[in-house]
Amino acid sequence: MLIPIILIQFIPINRNNPPVDNNLVISTPKDVEVILKNSCYDCHSNETVWPVYSYIAPISWLVAKDVKNGREELNFSEWNKLDDSKMEKKKEEIIEEISRDTMPLPIYLITHPSAKLSEDDKLLLKNWLTGR
Ligand code: HEC
Repeated sequence: MLIPIILIQFIPINRNNPPVDNNLVISTPKDVEVILKNSCYDCHSNETVWPVYSYIAPISWLVAKDVKNGREELNFSEWNKLDDSKMEKKKEEIIEEISRDTMPLPIYLITHPSAKLSEDDKLLLKNWLTGR
């Protein structure tokens, strides 16, 4: 039983943080930035803080998968690569996800309870996303 647990630790997984180009990073007021960094950046940016458990297989596989899929859907470090219509689409998706409390992912909140968005956080994000 122990042998496979040890062996799977040697399966390489991608825990890279690609370089951040400041010209591509989403530009927001400070209060919005604080919320995004605290609640979303671990999966939706190139500045992932990899927790200790992300180094232990098989949990590491789940973490790496969420980060990979998360970045593919939405990457605040590469936001300015999107054209105007894609940005609008992503903004709508963000509003939808936070309104339904589906983001941050529930599994993430177990280890990052402070990432849960308060009603005030959601309002602030929505007002900013809709330009109000
Ligand atoms: C633990 C990782 C994680 C965190 C933290 C996280 N997300 Fe996600 N997010 C994902 C993954 C994985 C996907 C793609 C698969 C899915 O939709 O479940 C995703 C998808 C999305 C999408 C696209 C949904 C669609 O329509 O397909 C949006 C928008 C989004 N997240 C917004 C956010 C916002 C805003 C935050 C912070 C408040 C956040 N996420 C925090 C992992 C995360």
